[in-house]
Formats: sequence, structure tokens, C-alpha cells
Amino acid sequence: MFRSNTCGELRLADAGKTVTLAGWVQRVRRMGGMTFVDLRDRYGITQVVFTGEHDAALTDAANRLGREFVIQVEGKVAERTSKNPNIPTGDIEIIADALRVLNPSEVPPFTIEDESDGGDDIRMRYRYLDLRRNPVRRNLELRHRMTMEVRRYLDSKGFLEIETPMLVGSTPEGARDFVVPSRMNPGQFYALPQSPQTLKQLLMVSGMDRYFQIVKCFRDEDLRADRQPEFTQIDCEMSFVEQDDIINLFEGMAKHLFKEIRGIELTEPFQRMPWADAMKYYGSDKPDLRFCMRFVELMDTLKGHGFSVFDNAEYIGGICAKGAAHYTRKQLDALTEFVKRPQIGAKGMVYARVEADGNVKSSVDKFYSQEVLRELAAKMEAEPGDLILILSGDDAMRTRKQLCELRLEMGRQLGLRDKDKFACLWVVDFPMFEWSDEEQRLMAMHHPFTHPKDEDIPMLDTDPAAVRADAYDMVINGVEVGGGSIRIHNSDLQAKMFEILGFTPEKAQEQFGFLMNAFKYGAPPHGGLAYGLDRWVSLFAGLDSIRDCIAFPKNNSGRDVMLDAPAELDQKQLDELNLEVVLPQPK
Ligand code: AMO
Repeated sequence: MFRSNTCGELRLADAGKTVTLAGWVQRVRRMGGMTFVDLRDRYGITQVVFTGEHDAALTDAANRLGREFVIQVEGKVAERTSKNPNIPTGDIEIIADALRVLNPSEVPPFTIEDESDGGDDIRMRYRYLDLRRNPVRRNLELRHRMTMEVRRYLDSKGFLEIETPMLVGSTPEGARDFVVPSRMNPGQFYALPQSPQTLKQLLMVSGMDRYFQIVKCFRDEDLRADRQPEFTQIDCEMSFVEQDDIINLFEGMAKHLFKEIRGIELTEPFQRMPWADAMKYYGSDKPDLRFCMRFVELMDTLKGHGFSVFDNAEYIGGICAKGAAHYTRKQLDALTEFVKRPQIGAKGMVYARVEADGNVKSSVDKFYSQEVLRELAAKMEAEPGDLILILSGDDAMRTRKQLCELRLEMGRQLGLRDKDKFACLWVVDFPMFEWSDEEQRLMAMHHPFTHPKDEDIPMLDTDPAAVRADAYDMVINGVEVGGGSIRIHNSDLQAKMFEILGFTPEKAQEQFGFLMNAFKYGAPPHGGLAYGLDRWVSLFAGLDSIRDCIAFPKNNSGRDVMLDAPAELDQKQLDELNLEVVLPQPK
């Protein structure tokens, strides 16, 4: 028997037992002729004591141990004289009788402690050591428990877990594909799936009725804290459903996860907000509703008083920061600098404080009478002690997005974005299409298989940009944790959609013929959703980046610095694949 117990298991009740433990040396301390070793494994830390006088050779051996040596220790469980209340095994220690070094270790490049001295790059290069640290390991344990609960919930609702291929065809919509050359089909490429979207729809045509898969998806897009080039979806599809059926079932799953994983019972239905309202009141399709600070449009109140910035604006909007009138000039200047940063791009910011007597003092006092400013405060529902922040611009959508950044920053500064508080919401009624400046055409906002709202179908011919879709996203704390839609199941409507998206019938047939043909053979009405597992885990773990809940993530340049991938191929491999590498000329 390699070990009788783990390093997290033994308690006072075990005193007197002879045990064998195995694990990694966390720390070696010598004190008063004795040697103490903290022995660590996945389950915890147990103190092992080598009593010098009792067995000098054994203690000598213990003194030669280094950090991260793998050892096996046999000994007796004893009550500690100085207990450590900070760890579950803190009441006991093992009086060692035997020690076996199973494998020595080089000095690790950073200390394996909760707070590591390793910088990001070095921790990623030695990720297998990083994963020995408690906080990182706990994130993977959480991820495991969440996937188990997902499977349990979906199984209880009759879903079948079905795998779909990783080597598929390239699809032109959405992000860029990662592609894989085919040796057996010279000059041809597979693509890795951006999501199993079309395959899960084909499974509905097959009559599978309720499908799910916890599945890797691949997208070659710019990376951010909540984006990885490969990530995991909880991908689901159902037949014979309407939007409400899907929303209710997956809201149920969200509540199940909150209860089982975080011990939070959410009894109220999640709020549902039309996309148009989300944009109007929060300037975002994923508003963080942990705090209010809704936008108030101020065109009527502030235009036409001689302040040219506002007089020429197409949009003027404000937010009210409760209790923030104490903000100093310096803090307000810093906020102005914040909104003027190139990533945000506002030209400036106007502020107004409501003072104790109800008077309003603003940065543009010379243009506005006290009467107008009081009207402004009333419109903003601002009370004495509140701070009003206002942005304006010549493009309403752009200005709202800037105001959104300001709102989020104020929420952060005022401590309103508590990681232990959760605000869940469905954003519904997304537009079917959005205009792409890059492509100079309408693109599908979700994907081309999304069903338009029945009442908006006539507008497909007259005003496609105004057509709304049966599409929905789940948003928690400003993070899009999932999205889905009712799908088109009629091949004529699908063909029309491709036409609006600028596909010729031939191109549509070439790219999506398999789906449109399948729809001719009895496709049931269907719809579904995909949750982003990495985002769910990082929300529940309170992480700033999804990287920390992925065992082997990529860095911001899409590199795996441990595996040193991507890398060049050798000539033989390129030849086999009929590939020639032509690098761009340096500019
Ligand atoms: P969508 O593209 O919205 O929908 O993706 C679903 C969810 O996956 C997560 N997600 C990501 N997580 C980490 N890194 C990324 N690069 C990344 N991209 C997306 C998000 C998102 O909400 N086939 C549709 C779903 C459907 O309609 O059923 C789809 O893929 O949490």
C-alpha cells in the first residue's frame, strides 16, 4: 500500500494510529534538534516530525529533503502540543518512523504557496507546478463540480450527451477559423468548430430531441480576459420548443448551479430586458445590474442654452452616482481623463453635484441657470449628496458605449461590483442583423440560423435592419455567460436569410447545402443555447480572467508558453501536407 491516508485527512480521533502518507515537501524546518516537514498533496498539508534523538539517521535524511521532493513517510499520529487552527489537520502531526524519497526535485522556479512569487509568464511556463498551488487547484476542482452538476441536471431533464466531430468544414460567418490541413486530401483543409451549431441542428433533424455536449470550441479572434482561442461550451439543443421553454429550462440550470455550487437560492424569475432597452439604459448588450445608475437622456433639458458642445450633440446622457458628491476636483479630472482615453474616445465629461441645500453646482454653471440645473437633478432623480456625470456626442450609439464605460468605472470606484453579489438577466429580442463597416454588408448578429420574430418576418424584404430575432443571451454581472436562439427550420426561409446576408444561391448551397437539404426531410421546430463554461467557473470563483480556471490556457498572444506552441513545422511535415510557408515581408 503506497499510502493509508491523504495529507488532508487525519484528525485528533486518529491519534495513535500507524499511517503511511505520500506527497510533496512543502517546507522543512529545524527546531530544537527536531525536523518538521510539511507534507502536501491535493487534499491538504500534514506536519511530519522527525525527532532527532529518537532516530538520528532518519532525521539526517529529513534534513536533506528539499522543496517539492516526493516522499513517502510512515509514522504514528500524535496530538500536537502547539496546534495550528488554520488547517484542518492542525491538531495532529505524524511522528515519523520511516522515510523514503520517491523522487527528488530541483529547486522550483517559484514557491508553491498560495501567494506565489512567480510572475505570470514563469507560472505559465511551469504550469504543472502552478497547478500544485491551492488557489489554482481549487479552481479546477470547482470546474469539475460544475460540470458534474451540469451533467446531472441535463440528464435529469432527458438530455443525451452526444459528441460531434472536431474536424469539420470552415464556415464563413462569425470569427476566423483555425484550420487543419488534410494529408489525404491535398490542398484541402478541415476547420476546427467555432461551435457545434449546425451539427446540433442536424441532430434535431435526426430526432434526438434533447442534446447536450460539454465541448471545446475554437475561434481565432483577439483575446481578452474573458476570451480564449479554445474554450468550452455547454452546448444544448431542443426540439418542439418555443423561446420560453428554452429560457425556463436553462434558467433552471443556472439556479441549480447557484444552489449546488454557491449555496445561493435564487427564487425569483430572472429579469428579461429587450436588447433595445439594454442599449438605451446601459449602453451595452451585457449590462452589469449589480448596481443601477441607468442612463437618463438629457437632450430636452440641456440643449439650447448656449453650451455649444451640448447644442451640437446628437445624444446627451447622464448617470447619477449616489452619494458621490464628495468627489474632489482631482478625482473628477481623473474620470475625465478616463473617458478621454483612446479606447473609450469621449471628448470630455460634464459633472454636477447636488449640494446639501438642493443647489446644483456644475462644471458648466455659466451656461445654465440654477433653475435648469435643478430640473436636471430632478430628471436624474438626484438628491443632495449625489453626483451627476454627463457625456455627449454626435453618434448616439458610440456615446452610449462611452457612458457605459464610465458607469462601469464609477460602479467599480464606489464598490458596487462586489464579486459575491450576482445579478442575472436575460437580454432578449436581439436585432437579427448588424451592419459591418468592414464587410460593408449586413451580418447576422448571432448566426445565420437564427429565427426572426414571426411578427417581423414581413420586414425582411422592406427593412431588414429593423428585424428582431428570437435570440437571447444570459448575462451575469456584465458577463455574457450564454446565448442562443430559436432556429430557422424551413429551407426557404433559411435560403432567404443567406440572400440577405449577401450569399449567392450557389455560395449558400456550397457552404450550407447540407443543412438546407436536411431541412427538406422533416426538420422539427427547434432551438437551443450554449453556456460558456469557462466564464461560469470564473464568475463562481471570483476570478478576473477565465485563464485561471483552465488547466493549460493560452497567453494573450494565443501562445502556450509551456508547450511552446504554435511552432514551425519541419520541411518533411510540410511536404507531406503539400504546404509551403510564405511569410509576410517585414514592413
Ligand atoms: P456564442 O458565440 O454566443 O453562441 O457562444 C456561446 C457562449 O460561449 C462563450 N464564449 C466564449 N468563452 C470564452 N472564450 C471565447 N472566445 C468565447 N466565445 C464565446 C460565451 C458565449 O455566451 N452556437 C451558438 C450558441 C447557440 O446559439 O446555441 C454560439 O456559439 O459565454
